[in-house]
Amino acid sequence: MITGNYPNLRLRRSRKNNWSRKLIEENTLSSNDFILPIFLIDGKNKKQEVNSMPDVYRYTVDRLDEIIDKSLKNKIPMVALFPYTNPKKKNKIGSEALNEENLVCKGIRYIKKRYKNKIGIMCDVALDPYTSHGHDGLLKSNYVLNDETIEILIKQSVLQAEMGCDVIAPSDMMDGRVGKIRKALDKNGFHLVQILSYAAKYASSYYGPFRDAVGSKKLLVGDKKNYQMDYRNRSEALREVALDIKEGADMVMVKPGLPYLDVIKAVKENFKIPVFAYQVSGEYSLISNGIKKGIINKEIILETLMSFKRAGASAIVTYYADRIKKIIS
Ligand code: PBG
Repeated sequence: MITGNYPNLRLRRSRKNNWSRKLIEENTLSSNDFILPIFLIDGKNKKQEVNSMPDVYRYTVDRLDEIIDKSLKNKIPMVALFPYTNPKKKNKIGSEALNEENLVCKGIRYIKKRYKNKIGIMCDVALDPYTSHGHDGLLKSNYVLNDETIEILIKQSVLQAEMGCDVIAPSDMMDGRVGKIRKALDKNGFHLVQILSYAAKYASSYYGPFRDAVGSKKLLVGDKKNYQMDYRNRSEALREVALDIKEGADMVMVKPGLPYLDVIKAVKENFKIPVFAYQVSGEYSLISNGIKKGIINKEIILETLMSFKRAGASAIVTYYADRIKKIIS
């Protein structure tokens, strides 16, 4: 409701001073709101820049302490692990996903051993870092099989939980996987392991730099439109979220972030569940390269992150999370 009239009412009055602007702020960000994705790579003592993502690196497991220490200094609650899998270890069925010596499993064990419960660990459940065709599941005549893929995802989830993963994050968009994963986790004694479902994940060009970072870009056959969502749709996102909540999701993700603020808002308004936003690699690269080239000033980062909060996100996955204290102060 709008009340009052000019000249009695002048909204600029409250905007005049910085202290006054602070008093009437409607949204705030703190370190508690952020999750950092971390890329892992084979080998020893390596830290390798991701070409398409300024200031983002791939770490060998033995160098993880560097980035985890940085995350703790920035007081963020959780990190998400993603592997750059050696192409030689990839095959049609992504069997490396079930190897307990894979990069993600090693990474979880390293962090849990060294940091105990000081920081949460979230892991993607999907096969794309492990398949020779770059798809999130099993491929048959260019179609990603649903139920057959879920059988593998269940095993991947239980394995990650066994390693110590705190939050299982299915990012594959198969129908019905959340319920089946929940059931398998419970059956194996992991009823307190959380599920963060990538419930509304769109088939997006914004994932380009990520696919570069995990080495699936050149391999990807076709696109992911037969399982990830169509960017023309919003109501469908609510159906996806409703199903995942019924199946046992503790939290849901909307991904990408900025082009889908309307979806975040709609999910927040329709369901009483924490909604997370993923500011994906393409969003990050566009902003970071824009700043680097002097096209735009760096306050754009804070402005963008705040938009997720305004839309209703509880937390934000972002590649800026390891520098967040400085950004929000
Ligand atoms: C894999 C996955 C993707 C991202 C997170 N998990 C890429 C994809 O679905 O192709 C993208 C993250 C980013 O772009 O930052 N299922």
